Amino acid sequence: MRVDLQQAIHMLQQGQVVAIPTETVYGLAADARNDEALRQIYGIKERPADNPLIVHLANISQVSDWASDFPPLAQHLAKAFWPGPFTLVLPAKESVSHIVRAGEPTVALRVPAHPLTQQLLQACGLGLAAPSANKYTHLSPTTAAHVEASLGEEVAVLDGGACQVGIESTIVSVAGDEWQLLRHGMISELAISQVAGKPASRVATHTPKAPGQHLLHYSPRTPSLLLDSVEAIQAFVARHEHCVALLMQATEVGCPSLVLGNTPEVAAELLYSQLHRLDAMGAKHLLIHAVPNSNEWAGIRDRLQRATYR
Ligand code: TXA
Ligand code: MG
Repeated sequence: MRVDLQQAIHMLQQGQVVAIPTETVYGLAADARNDEALRQIYGIKERPADNPLIVHLANISQVSDWASDFPPLAQHLAKAFWPGPFTLVLPAKESVSHIVRAGEPTVALRVPAHPLTQQLLQACGLGLAAPSANKYTHLSPTTAAHVEASLGEEVAVLDGGACQVGIESTIVSVAGDEWQLLRHGMISELAISQVAGKPASRVATHTPKAPGQHLLHYSPRTPSLLLDSVEAIQAFVARHEHCVALLMQATEVGCPSLVLGNTPEVAAELLYSQLHRLDAMGAKHLLIHAVPNSNEWAGIRDRLQRATYR
């Protein structure tokens, strides 16, 4: 069910769940201070209760409503990367719902850049808990139609067009003057090191369960395989029926294929929509050409490894 901005604001204020666009992926949003609304998110997603949610805020000044400590290093990172595809894990205030943080002593916060969601956050005045709007472990949605295909037509969706970043935010936890990378994304580890003025701490200050790090995640239903070269894809296709392939550039490989693109920005934007399309073809094997093993491709490489984990 599609809803407009005013309906979305009203529903969220009433404790209902609405799928909302962000620049990364669509999120399944609810009032982060309303435990009943939060339980609905877990129910609709079929997500285990030990997997905490990100709270989305309108601006940096709201951090102090949620975090008990906002160290200078975290402030510096927030000023550099917000609004944007960047999530900060900080010590939680005691008042933060134990459902939203899944019992962790920390809370994950993000100020998204999508203009419609910015309007929504400013108008509704709530912190919005929002995991990606897909069933647990399935492919993430980057359009309103993806949300409906995964969660059903009865879920309310605010349509903000196709997501432009295309993969989930980079997650960084900060404790004192140390930081750790919890999830790769389009803001790279190198970019964060440069702003932080130092590399990530190798000693875990606090080890969250972070089930986003679950190896099988972001997965197509079609059995998927990551291969290092076009030649390896061609050789596989020659020996197996009903293959489809995701390639970095258009090449004849002997089976239907879609192209991801040559730059990390384009590839990230297209990644989930191309995987959704290939998955819908009902093939026996989905073959994926591995992207380069370099810093700026790390977020995409991480999603591909999880999509193909066996
Ligand atoms: O781009 C994104 O981050 C999207 C959009 C909707 O904002 N959201 C998203 O949410 O990807 P989700 O729930 O699919 O992934 C959130 C990740 C999970 O891996 C979760 O474990 C981690 O954030 N997380 C949340 N709170 C945490 C905490 N307190 N400590 C450590 N990890 C946390
Ligand atoms: Mg997710």
